[in-house]
Amino acid sequence: MSACKEIEILKRKELFSSPPKVDAAFWKDALDYSLGKIKSNIAVFGDRCPGPTSVNGVYPLIPNTDWTSSFWPGMFFLAWEHTEDELYRRAGEGRVAGFRERLDKRIETETHDLGFLYTLSCVAPWRLFGNAAARETALMAADLLLLRRHEKAGVIQAWGNLDDPRQRGRIIIDCAMNLPLLYWASEETGKPHYREAAARHINTANAHIIRENWSTCHTYFFDAETGKPLRGNTAQGYSDDSCWARGQAWGIYGNALSYRYLRDPDLLEKARGLARYFLNRLPKDLIAYWDLIFVDGGEERDSSATAIAACGLLELSAALGEGDADKGPFKNAALHIMASLAKSCTTREKPESTGLLLHGVYSKPDGKGVDECTIFGDYFYMEGLTRICRGWNPYW
Ligand code: GLY
Repeated sequence: MSACKEIEILKRKELFSSPPKVDAAFWKDALDYSLGKIKSNIAVFGDRCPGPTSVNGVYPLIPNTDWTSSFWPGMFFLAWEHTEDELYRRAGEGRVAGFRERLDKRIETETHDLGFLYTLSCVAPWRLFGNAAARETALMAADLLLLRRHEKAGVIQAWGNLDDPRQRGRIIIDCAMNLPLLYWASEETGKPHYREAAARHINTANAHIIRENWSTCHTYFFDAETGKPLRGNTAQGYSDDSCWARGQAWGIYGNALSYRYLRDPDLLEKARGLARYFLNRLPKDLIAYWDLIFVDGGEERDSSATAIAACGLLELSAALGEGDADKGPFKNAALHIMASLAKSCTTREKPESTGLLLHGVYSKPDGKGVDECTIFGDYFYMEGLTRICRGWNPYW
């Protein structure tokens, strides 16, 4: 277990002391561009799903089999919140049955990403429209997610079959974003065991995945039989001791979301430490490199990590108390980051693209989706714009 050192001082104090010099029209323009792209993609994508990343800026179309299938319907629900256009509601709710079928047939469901999948596809339409079939499906997904728990270690296994020797007892930082499905299930059913499992997972993960210096390792192995913590390593980062940018971003946002449900101040401190580490390693234009070991050029950026971190910072800033010295700077940092994404990363410069944000990286070590649009980056960019333009009650 790593005992964290004191959190480092937030750099760029002056920049983050005020919001970026952009007006409401700037944000509206960024939002309108995104809404236009979503609308035109409805016909292009039809009833298929965009793949996790584009190829030369254009998403391949795949069936509902990936961990990323829910980001596209998630964008419909955000678009509906802005426009109340029935087109988006129909498109979003029209996918609920397909997500139910995926669960019933157990199509690629041996993953902790049931949280990403069923929060955006099913919890969202339940919250927005009271869609009962979506509620039932999301509760089934929460039950299935709980079956991935290793009781002794108190953690939810990330990938693969629970008996797969390569994956058994392995957690990943991304799982912090899958826990809101469990918190929601407790709220819906009045049964505490979902929430208790999520709380135990986040606290155990934090104790081992967050390093002494407030960077994170991507994945961590436990002995499933004894619960003994074993070792950390990376899957998508540069090295076992570097800090994968999207993992750090998931950690910021995931801890802030767990705080929303658990109200444990330690989660806010975890989010704060991870956030300062992330912000202090951004280059001048505030678009993160794909691994935070890189700070000054020669490597690809990851616009998705950057957009996720911005959403996490907005959630975190809102949770911090009025007198908290990071409250203003974290919000301003998120706004600067979002403005930088809007100015320098959108597909306006590549009109043939079906994505919103260029310059994402899915997995550099695997050569997957390097310097491409990512459907999760697009979703979180749209979520960030939604938070900025109208305020937002999270689906998470
Ligand atoms: N959750 C997988 C990823 O962020 O690539």
